[in-house]
Amino acid sequence: MVHIKSVPIPEDYDISKRRGFLPDQDPLQNLSSYYASWDAAVKQLPSYLLAGCTRKQLDRIPLLSTDQLTTEAEFQRAYSVLCMLSHAYVWCDGETSPCKVLPANLAVPWAAVSAHLGGKPILTHSAVVMYNWHLIDSEGPADLTNLAVNHTFNGCNDEAWFYLVTVAIEALGGPTVQAIVNGMHAVNELDAEKVAAHMHVLADSIESMTNIILRMFEKCDATVYYRDIRPFFGGWRGNPVLPNGLVYEGVSDIPFEYAGGSAGQSSLLQAIDIALGIHHSPTNVCPMQEATVLDTPSASESEPDADAEDTDTDLDGNMNEEHLAKLRHTPAVDAECSYMSTVRAYMPRKHRHFLSALGKAPSLHDFVKSPHGSDEARAAFDRAVLALSQFRTKHIQLVSTYIVIPASKKSSTIASYRGTGGSSIMPFLKQVRTETLTQLTQCPHPRP
Ligand code: HEM
Repeated sequence: MVHIKSVPIPEDYDISKRRGFLPDQDPLQNLSSYYASWDAAVKQLPSYLLAGCTRKQLDRIPLLSTDQLTTEAEFQRAYSVLCMLSHAYVWCDGETSPCKVLPANLAVPWAAVSAHLGGKPILTHSAVVMYNWHLIDSEGPADLTNLAVNHTFNGCNDEAWFYLVTVAIEALGGPTVQAIVNGMHAVNELDAEKVAAHMHVLADSIESMTNIILRMFEKCDATVYYRDIRPFFGGWRGNPVLPNGLVYEGVSDIPFEYAGGSAGQSSLLQAIDIALGIHHSPTNVCPMQEATVLDTPSASESEPDADAEDTDTDLDGNMNEEHLAKLRHTPAVDAECSYMSTVRAYMPRKHRHFLSALGKAPSLHDFVKSPHGSDEARAAFDRAVLALSQFRTKHIQLVSTYIVIPASKKSSTIASYRGTGGSSIMPFLKQVRTETLTQLTQCPHPRP
């Protein structure tokens, strides 16, 4: 008897048929007039940073309640704006001179909005990519010919391009996720022909992502990225200039430790990994310890359960002990951490629940290798695996150009910290690529 496993319905998890994990409607470019001071400040950030008056200006923002936010789109914009304002506040004087206390006018609403979305008050991939774009022609496609960014720190095109290339990749999430769930339904139907067709769609999507990621080089200069953009993504976990983390005034006297933002928090790439049955082992080279990456969530968060109850804060920003416990920092990162499970704590709640549900859905890999599979289905599956491995190869080239090489040219204390981080990131990324290739059904496995 065939055991049918359920396949999650993407729309139940805020995943759009058109745009995957991106919001189905363009993110808002303004909030209601009550939040005019937030909207005005985020638009002025490049000027504040240039004039060197960022903290002085941001200190003038009143402490606003979050109870005027009603829709998810409003919460997403509020989160994005508060991430940018808060990171500008912390890092405006450079990587070596962060503030150690984030004032309550930013900290309190930021913690509340983050809790509502099921994330952490730290800049993430969601903040600067997923919720930070709009279409130039509202009827046109979500691609690089028609995408614009809502906000940047520096006001430079390199920064806008850095975000938009990533948005354009995420925009392929619509057909990608559809191919995955359709392929899983075909497994339940024992239909190898359909599985092959959906795996070819998946491979096409991944190949398009690779073409887009290579376009990063066109308009984002590596020196500008490393010197002027990346520092704003920095976090406060394992960071020698904020060894105890950051105090969120009005939220808790005890500092919180979170590491900074990365496209490694993309739910899309993890969905592809899960679809192809690719497992990522704990690594001896955990990137988040040495670079500006991520922290380790609690055990319950690191293996999120689709059915688990996530609690929200009450929307006026008051944190009860349970909320604070969730926000508080967790045990130090160690060699046993698995980056891929760790970063899920930084994804929107519903998206990490989708990944959890997808992990329990029918295995495409087991199906194509079973007697129900076919040569065609195996070839299509392998094409998708090879496409993902190729994406990772190109991504590694980016990391070399944008981090490892610039880091090697700097010689200060902070630079050597980043340089060490930059270079040790490579074994991690190469391990992830090797783990990808081990899922091939028909070719010999590569040597680790
Ligand atoms: C200049 C561009 C980029 C740089 C410098 C860069 C840097 C990095 C670094 C250092 C890591 C290691 C873990 C971490 O630090 O978070 C990483 C991981 C990752 N990045 Fe990027 N990245 C870039 C662009 C992108 C883009 C456009 C995507 C597309 C979504 C992406 C997706 C990922 C993913 C999925 C991981 C996790 C490892 C993997 O799945 O292979 N990155 N990136």
